[in-house]
Amino acid sequence: MKILVVGSGGREHALCWKLAQSAKVDQILCAPGNGGTAQVGRNVPVKDDDIPALVKLARDEEVDLVVAGPELPLVLGIQNALEKEQIPCFGPNAYAANLEGSKAFSKNVMHEAGVPTAAFRVFDEYEAAAAFIRKKGAPLVVKADGLAAGKGVVVASTTEEALEAAENMMVRKAFDAAGDRIVVEECLKGEEASFLAFCDGRNYALLPSSQDHKAVGEGDTGPNTGGMGAYSPAPILPESEYAATAELVIRPILELLASKGQPFKGVLYAGLMMTEDGPSVLEYNVRFGDPECQPLLMRLDTDIVDIMFACIDGRLDQVEVKVRPETACGVVMAAEGYPASYPKGMEITGLDKADALDNVKVFQAGTREQDGRILSSGGRVLCVTALGRDLAEARKKAYEGVDLVHFDKSYFRHDIAEKGLKRMK
Ligand code: AMP
Ligand code: GLY
Repeated sequence: MKILVVGSGGREHALCWKLAQSAKVDQILCAPGNGGTAQVGRNVPVKDDDIPALVKLARDEEVDLVVAGPELPLVLGIQNALEKEQIPCFGPNAYAANLEGSKAFSKNVMHEAGVPTAAFRVFDEYEAAAAFIRKKGAPLVVKADGLAAGKGVVVASTTEEALEAAENMMVRKAFDAAGDRIVVEECLKGEEASFLAFCDGRNYALLPSSQDHKAVGEGDTGPNTGGMGAYSPAPILPESEYAATAELVIRPILELLASKGQPFKGVLYAGLMMTEDGPSVLEYNVRFGDPECQPLLMRLDTDIVDIMFACIDGRLDQVEVKVRPETACGVVMAAEGYPASYPKGMEITGLDKADALDNVKVFQAGTREQDGRILSSGGRVLCVTALGRDLAEARKKAYEGVDLVHFDKSYFRHDIAEKGLKRMK
């Protein structure tokens, strides 16, 4: 089989790496890809938001399956466009992708499906939003409705901050049309966990729990990033609670969307706040998380091609999704300055040495290959991921890998997985 992976992050390198392990896969293309995906397959310079060009590429290359890594192509309707050409696509259609593409849609679906989530109101006019914010008072969370590259959420500890956020989105158009509509919601307290499931529209198959580290700084300080590290399983959401949690946050969404004639197929990612009253959904993503994907796929022990086609064909109940019992931990190496401005073009060395360690894999994100060298090209550069008998061992091995890799102006958090280790004690 020939497979086209869309995207260019660490998640996409991990997807290519996992797909390449399938005996059914002969060739992998990645659009636009990175230095890591170039080692597994062939990069093609087509951007992830250029749906007509991606469809043309899939058609011209006669690919058997397209795997959409990020949310943007899904929200833009890549599945629908490929379906018209009878090309299988792993990922939901544009309607279902709105679970991530529109916060208002997502909250309304959660409400209708009876999924636990923070109390909320949707606003299309700044004055009405401001009146509500003044009446309720802080703490409040203000969210731009549309995709805003992870920057559209403000957790406001003062009423002034919440007003400022709403004004920034709705009046000053900081996120263009993505902020024309906003969601204002109750602020929840607790530790976050990621819970992902393969879905075929009707059935789901769970992946183990994981936990991301969104803040750039140690001790969860500083601005939010795409994610600075992740591990799986997350002790905050133990295996004994997977089934009940899925019935609470996955099943009702599948049932509701199926009843609307818009079945959800792909990976449904529930971003959970583990509150004193149980899990509450902060958001849905319609794809693998990055960096959660990297540790999760290191644990996945079933041919991912079989799982993806079972999702597309609606027969996930016939596939056993097996997961290795070990713990996996990934540490992101970023460029100093990220998530604000950062330097690019630094040469990365030691990748082979880290990859040669037992059960360690370096997934590349913001990298590119030039004349046989790997250069940095983005903010999140690498995710050094390791498997271990337990969290302590996985973490230790991931940092051993980090120690072997070098590039100028590299930055990483030293405390990935510490929260999990504390909880286990
Ligand atoms: P979202 O994109 O909706 O997941 O929001 C990004 C981040 O904002 C989450 O990972 C949380 O850290 C935080 N957040 C979102 N909604 C809430 C909420 N209702 N209460 C507290 N924190 C929240
Ligand atoms: N790691 C969070 C996300 O992918 O949205």
